[in-house]
Amino acid sequence: MGHKTSVEASKDSQSYKSKPANTKKLFIKTYGCQMNVYDSERMADVLAPVGYAPVDTPDGADLVVLNTCHIREKAAEKVYSELGRIRKLKEKSEAAGRTMKVAVAGCVAQAEGEEILRRAPVVDLVLGPQSYHKLPEMIAKVSRQFEERLETDFDTEEKFDLMPRTRAVDGPTAFLTIQEGCDKFCTFCVVPYTRGAEFSRPVDQIVAEARALVAQGVREITLLGQNVNAFHGAAPKLEDDENWGLGQLISHLSKIGGLDRLRYTTSHPRDMDDELIAVHKDEPTLMPYLHLPLQAGSDRILKAMNRGHTYAEFKDLVVKIRAAKPELALSSDFIVGFPGESELDFKRTLEAVEEIGFASSFSFKYSPRPGTPGAALPGQVPEDVKSERLARLQKLLTRQQIAFNKSLIGKTLSVLVEGTSRGENELFGRAPYLQGTHFKGDTSLIGQITLVKITDAGQNSLRGELVTKEGGDG
Ligand code: SAH
Ligand code: SF4
Ligand code: F3S
Repeated sequence: MGHKTSVEASKDSQSYKSKPANTKKLFIKTYGCQMNVYDSERMADVLAPVGYAPVDTPDGADLVVLNTCHIREKAAEKVYSELGRIRKLKEKSEAAGRTMKVAVAGCVAQAEGEEILRRAPVVDLVLGPQSYHKLPEMIAKVSRQFEERLETDFDTEEKFDLMPRTRAVDGPTAFLTIQEGCDKFCTFCVVPYTRGAEFSRPVDQIVAEARALVAQGVREITLLGQNVNAFHGAAPKLEDDENWGLGQLISHLSKIGGLDRLRYTTSHPRDMDDELIAVHKDEPTLMPYLHLPLQAGSDRILKAMNRGHTYAEFKDLVVKIRAAKPELALSSDFIVGFPGESELDFKRTLEAVEEIGFASSFSFKYSPRPGTPGAALPGQVPEDVKSERLARLQKLLTRQQIAFNKSLIGKTLSVLVEGTSRGENELFGRAPYLQGTHFKGDTSLIGQITLVKITDAGQNSLRGELVTKEGGDG
C-alpha cells in the first residue's frame, strides 16, 4: 500500500485541470487506501460538469467532502475530529452569508450511515462508496431541503457505468480501479462490510479508461482492487473466454503504446495464480514489485484470521514468485496482537519476516472493528503488549527495508519523473521498486522515464545521478 499514500496517511485532494469559469469551490480530503484516492478523483470528475472545481483548503469552500476510512479505530476517529474543525469553518461561511455543504463519503459513511448525521449535525449528506455518481443529484436535493441525506446502496456496476468517461489527470501516474469489494471475510476486517461483495469491471471498460489516461500523458497505471488479483472481468467481445483473470488483463494492457509501466495492489495470497506469476516474468511493463500481505506467521493465528492459507503455503508461493522474477521487491502487511496471539505466536511472525525478507512493509496493532468476528473473540491482547510487539516487529522490518534500499546503491534504475523535489534543480520520481528517488535534472524531464544511478539510500527514498547513456538494471 505504499504508493502515494499509506493506509492511514491522509492526502488532500490534488488540483485538477479543466476549471470552468464561475465555479464553485470543492474541497476533498482523502483518508485510507488508494481506492479512496481513485474515488476522490472520480468524485471531482462527476462534480466538474455541474461547476465544481477543486481547491486546496476547506476554508471558504462551497462543498467539503471527507472520503473516509474505517479500517482501524484511529482512522475512523480522525473523521470526527476533522468534522469539528469543518464545523467552525461552516459557521464562519454562514456568518459571511455564504453556504458550505459538508458530505461524508467512503467506508465510515457506509459503516455508520445515519449515526454520522446524529453524531455530527454539521454533515449535510452521507454517501457510501457505491453512490458517488449520484453526488450532483444528492447535492441538489439537499439544497432544495429534501430530507434524503443518506445513500448507502451497494450497486457497484452502476457506479462504474455512470461515472463520466473523461478523467482529469495529474502527472504521469494514475490509479485505475478494476475490482471492488471482497468476499474473503478475514475476521479482523471491515472491508467486506463497507465495500460489499466482489465485483470486477468488464475488460473493455478498463481498456477504454487506460487508453484515455495514456492519451492524456499517463505512463504508469496502478490497477486497484481491495482484492485485485481475484479480478475476473468480462472478456472483450469476440474473445472466446467469458472472463479474464488479472494476468490476462495485464498482458493485454501491456500492449497499449505509451503505457510503459503497470502495477497492481492489493493482492491476496490465495488468488496469486500461475498465470499472474508468469506475467511477472514475461511482461517487462509490469514493475518488479508485489504487495502481498502475510498478516501473521503463526498457523493458529492465520486460521483464526480466516486467511485460508498456512505459513508454509505462503512461503512456497514466494519461492515460486521469486523463481519467476528473482529481483522482485516483496512488500507485506502485518497485524500484531490479534485475539489469542501468544508470545510464541508472535515469534512466528518475527521468524517468518527473517526467513522471507521484505523490501518494505506496513504493520499495525490489531484494532477490533464493530461487527467483525474478531472483535467478539476471547483473548483480546492488552494495548501495552500490542505496542511492545509492534515495536519489535517494526525494528526488524525497518532494518530489512534499509538493507534492501542500500542494496540498490551503484545500480542504474529507470525512474519515471513525477515532478520537482525540494532541493535546487531537484527532480522526484519512482524507481521500479516503488521508492521515491531524488536527483538533479531539468524540469523538461518531468513525465519522462530516465536512467538514474543510485548513490545513496535511506529508509524511504533513494538519491542518485542522472545517467545519459543507454541501458540500466531495472
Ligand atoms: N485487501 C487487503 C487489505 C486491505 S486493509 C488485503 O487483503 O490484504 C490493509 C491492511 O490493514 C491489511 O492488510 C491489514 O494488515 C490491516 N488491517 C485490516 N484490518 C485491520 C484491523 N482491524 N486492525 C489492524 N489492522 C488491520
Ligand atoms: Fe479485508 Fe481480508 Fe478482504 Fe483483504 S482479503 S479486504 S484483509 S477481508
Ligand atoms: Fe479504508 Fe475502506 Fe480502503 S476501510 S482501507 S478506505 S477500503
